[in-house]
Amino acid sequence: MSERSIAIGPILGISAAILAFLFWLIYFQTPASSSEEWVSVLPTMIACLNAMSASFLGVGFIAIKNGYKRLHIGMMISATTASALFLVCYIIYHHYAGDTKFLAEGIIRPIYFFILISHILLSMVVVPLILLTLWFAIRKYYDSHKKIAKWTFPIWMYVSVTGILVYLILNNFNTV
Ligand code: HEM
Repeated sequence: MSERSIAIGPILGISAAILAFLFWLIYFQTPASSSEEWVSVLPTMIACLNAMSASFLGVGFIAIKNGYKRLHIGMMISATTASALFLVCYIIYHHYAGDTKFLAEGIIRPIYFFILISHILLSMVVVPLILLTLWFAIRKYYDSHKKIAKWTFPIWMYVSVTGILVYLILNNFNTV
């Protein structure tokens, strides 16, 4: 196996472990119900971290397209940090809250589930994509970095923006 592809196995393994843990956390764990104020703030923090990821990603993309490599690196590391913090907040929130039921009726229902399901499916793909994109960049395999980043960038952006939309829809329509 070439040095370039040596990380693919471990990256897929780490991604699968994260996904299996999240699946268990959301659907099988008994939520440690809490009425603490700080837990109810977490969904807003999660949405803000998604907005930060999307903004850093956008600036990082424009930066590299204009030849600003240092700015690109800084923005992409910031986007990764915001997404990692998002994951921590998401895990803490779901430890207390379990899964969220969507109760609203009408046209918003199919719209919400389309956004939610596409968000979930693509978020599964984006974890290994981000790790591989970073790995190729760190190892200076810029040709592979550019090839995979063509997928990582739009999918990551979609997942971040739909994360904000899910939050906004839940806040505005799920008030029953
Ligand atoms: C996961 C986060 C990252 C994403 C999504 C990303 C995305 C991209 C994209 C879309 C391009 C332009 C590709 C093209 O023009 O076709 C690019 C190029 C580049 N990236 Fe990243 N990047 C990330 C992280 C990094 C990091 C951490 C570094 C440095 C350690 C880096 C260094 C570079 C360099 C040097 C180029 C230019 C390569 C060249 O033109 O030969 N990137 N990246």
